[in-house]
Amino acid sequence: MEILESLTIEGVSIFTGYSMIGTCASFAWVPSATLQSNASGSSFVMKGLECMYDVEALLIRKDLFLRTADSRDFLLTNFQITDIEDSENVAGTADSLEILSGSFPEIKNFIQDEEVVIDKRNHIEAFEVMSGVISNIQNGLEINASAARNIAEKFVYDITRHPDAVTNLLDIKSFDDYTFTHNINVSTLAVIIGQELGLNEESLLNLALGAMMHDIGKLKIPLEIINKDGKLTDSEFNLIKSHSNLGYEILSMSQNFPEIVKQISLQHHEKHGGHGYPHNLKGDEISLFSRITAIADVYDALTTDRPYRNAMPPYTAIKSILSQVETHFNPTVLKAFIRRFSLFPSGSLVHLNNNSVALVIKSNSKSVLRPTVKVLKSSDGHILKKREVVNLMNEKDLYILGPASVESLSKSSLKRQFLS
Ligand SMILES: [Fe+2]
Repeated sequence: MEILESLTIEGVSIFTGYSMIGTCASFAWVPSATLQSNASGSSFVMKGLECMYDVEALLIRKDLFLRTADSRDFLLTNFQITDIEDSENVAGTADSLEILSGSFPEIKNFIQDEEVVIDKRNHIEAFEVMSGVISNIQNGLEINASAARNIAEKFVYDITRHPDAVTNLLDIKSFDDYTFTHNINVSTLAVIIGQELGLNEESLLNLALGAMMHDIGKLKIPLEIINKDGKLTDSEFNLIKSHSNLGYEILSMSQNFPEIVKQISLQHHEKHGGHGYPHNLKGDEISLFSRITAIADVYDALTTDRPYRNAMPPYTAIKSILSQVETHFNPTVLKAFIRRFSLFPSGSLVHLNNNSVALVIKSNSKSVLRPTVKVLKSSDGHILKKREVVNLMNEKDLYILGPASVESLSKSSLKRQFLS
């Protein structure tokens, strides 16, 4: 880990580890060693801070991720805001600023939030388990199946704790290496879909485990082909397609993975209408666990930044998946997915049918299209100082037309939202 000297970084996005919560035009860092009068802590100044949520979302954090426009990641540890009076110069202190190297930000307090699905400690443990799995495979060793089963059990326990929660998909996302997070995200998504389909706990456990391992065959494929920016040659594409069989073989090296778990690795690229790989199965020939994992896999891939394209917002990704129902995806499983996931997670900007623009602040378990929102811009185009909170479940004449962009609001409207 590299502790940094004085520096200024510009065009900074601020992440909590799960969600982006704001931006600042520049972040200036002065370590304590270079301060004459204040040796007790290093200091920073954020210029032009804009928060997407209330200030609490920022203040309760212990650590923050800072990401620059050119995708450098920093970790600001144990920070305190000391002066927020002037939005152009928000000042604070922190223990250190480091180049991010796999650490995970902590939160200051436990947040009672029905939409947080996986307990943070379990998420971190899952990273450690996957890290061990990956290094064992790379070194030709057997996977530690009991550690993987143990974390799968915890995922299932966490998810079944709140069966009715609509899941904020942004909470599932994290910003570490794709190889680590993709498998964990897919496992979480798959279990939630499985739960909605009424699977029992033993089935959910096998689903969690298989979904976590679904792509491990890719570890046997050169990274430059996996991440290739541009059209794959036929032989490269065939190599990538071989990850289904490779994954099955890797899991078969251990006696501890049931066939139903290994099948997920083998079948997650089969398509409902046929023409998938490796065996061109269709419909019910594809195991239920594989059909579930296929949707979770595609959704997570679409909503994650990859070297060759930017992430789609949840709404666009779900629309894209919906356009492939019957050909690619099983309709019953897809319906269960839509029922459980908010199309407009907390933090989304939306256009309402009365021409106003609002910020989603809470999903609604009874209707994924009718969350609670805070109206930021009135129907006649005025940025509102006093922002009304509207539960769309109670306002039947009001509904969401679609996502809105940050540009649909003037800069100043978001800038001091956290102070109002
Ligand atoms: Fe795959």
